[in-house]
Formats: sequence, structure tokens, C-alpha cells
Amino acid sequence: MAEKQKIVYITRRERFNAAHKLYNKNWTEAENEAFFGKCSNKYYHGHNFELFVTIKGIADPETGMVMDLKKLKTIIKDSVTEQLDHKNLNEDVPFLQNMMPSIENIVVAVWDIISPQIENGKLHCVKLIETENNFVEYYGE
Ligand code: NI
Repeated sequence: MAEKQKIVYITRRERFNAAHKLYNKNWTEAENEAFFGKCSNKYYHGHNFELFVTIKGIADPETGMVMDLKKLKTIIKDSVTEQLDHKNLNEDVPFLQNMMPSIENIVVAVWDIISPQIENGKLHCVKLIETENNFVEYYGE
């Protein structure tokens, strides 16, 4: 009987700093303030974000790797974190146009960018940490 294939999850972390505000243009300033509190501050606020991208797969017998983490690093940097770093997420990022730049919406957008670029293994999770207490995860569902 063939040996059972072992599924391994590998993760690359990248960091970026960016500003945003949570502000619904269809609401009044008072409604925004009531719902989002200081996150709606019209002069924006910043975070030191940490992005974790996890790939699921089977280690290649030749390389011992699910996917080369250097390659994953390049994909994340070129297509995501370089686009976000030191940017205003409400205004400056083409792939976040016309959406609330909440961490929920950002992880879904990041998934859609990274997923088609993964050749060995499959994208399993995109996790974004906004503060030490607040983070979100997306599994492509
Ligand atoms: Ni915030």
C-alpha cells in the first residue's frame, strides 16, 4: 500500500504600515462616529499590519518543500504589501477601490490576488493582524 501523503501548511509573514479610516460615505458624520467611533476619524489613523499567507500541500520529494517560501515572499511583496505599504488604504490602492478598507475586506481582496499565483500547493488562509488584539482570517469560502 502506498504511503499516506502528509499534508503540511506553510506560512509566510510580511508586514506593512498603512493608514485608513472606517467611514461609510452614505452615512452622516454623526452616524459614522456613532458606529465606527474613532476609527472614522476623518484625518485617518495608522496600523502596523502583519499579513500571514498559508499554503497547504504535500512536500515535493525532490525539494522537500510544499512551495519555495522565497517565491511566496516575492508573490506577497510584489502583488500585495508593496501596494499597501505607507499608503492610505481608502484612497491609494487600486485593488481596494470602492470598498471599506476593513481587515475583513482586505483579506478577501488579498486572497483573490494571491490565489491564482500559487502553483504548488493551494492557498489555505490569509490572516491579517491589525492590532495585538484584533485580527481576521479568510479561508476562501
Ligand atoms: Ni483601524
